[in-house]
Amino acid sequence: MACAIRFALRDNGAVSITTAQEQQFYDAAYAVHRHTPDHALRTNRESMLRDLNQPGGAFYERRKLYSAVLAELLSEPLAGRVVLDYGCGVGEWGVLMATEGARVTLLDLSPVAIEIGLRRAAANDVGHKVRGYARDASDLSCFADGEFDLIYASAALHHTLKYPNALAELLRVLRPGGKLILAETYGNNMILNGLRRFRWRLSRQPEDAGEDIILGDRELDLLRSHFSRVSVTPMNLLAMAKRVFRGRFGSRAVCATIGWLEAIDLRLLNSLPFLGRYCGEVLVVAER
Ligand SMILES: C[S@@+](CC[C@H](N)C(=O)[O-])C[C@H]1O[C@@H](n2cnc3c(N)ncnc32)[C@H](O)[C@@H]1O
Repeated sequence: MACAIRFALRDNGAVSITTAQEQQFYDAAYAVHRHTPDHALRTNRESMLRDLNQPGGAFYERRKLYSAVLAELLSEPLAGRVVLDYGCGVGEWGVLMATEGARVTLLDLSPVAIEIGLRRAAANDVGHKVRGYARDASDLSCFADGEFDLIYASAALHHTLKYPNALAELLRVLRPGGKLILAETYGNNMILNGLRRFRWRLSRQPEDAGEDIILGDRELDLLRSHFSRVSVTPMNLLAMAKRVFRGRFGSRAVCATIGWLEAIDLRLLNSLPFLGRYCGEVLVVAER
């Protein structure tokens, strides 16, 4: 297993950012949420659906991906399930699952993320169903083997795969027969990857703190070698142009353009499914 996991490292085998630096990056990014009032931390199925359809909302840009995630999570029997929100950020998804009856663990490198996530849980009256751990996912020794029925990771696995032990630990804490659900940036498209790198350089974002290891075929093959079934649903090909319109989703013309690109994508991907591997986002459901 160790060999396979090392395979997921960058081509030069280097990890060019330390976990401390990555933590610092995310602590700073999440600190702004300390000023968010409790009522604005309310998260449940209805608020999620509303946010997905609100052009000014945080989820709008990824609404196709997150709508698919929401449908996937809600199709699970969540009540009583033991769930890990892996690289949870400020905990929207984990708390959402707690409001559906799951017993949720929030895990993130950033203590600020966990602080906000736990506040969110309390603000939704599910504090008793949610616990939080601020730690590096490459050491999950605080959890027992097979402790979780379901692990959900949104835009997080591509951060942790660069650490040699992370996948081994994830596999250890997922029970046999358990499920891994991933919402990820899909990384097979060289043009999109080039544009992403260009943007990080412009914004002076350290690549590894961002999305240098975006999930691509290599990482999916790695997952296939550890899971009995891996289903991959790519989305947004031409509609990835939405990134150009970031911050302008309130405009009717922008919404219409994105809707139009999404409609073309649907036709393209239906008639030429191989184009799916060049999409910009992907939902992965893997069964252990
Ligand atoms: C792009 S954010 C996604 C956050 C959240 N899941 C979401 O969808 O909004 C990536 C998250 O992974 C966390 N992360 C990065 N490296 C990690 C590690 N080694 N262990 C645990 N969490 C990590 C970061 O702190 C950050 O919150």
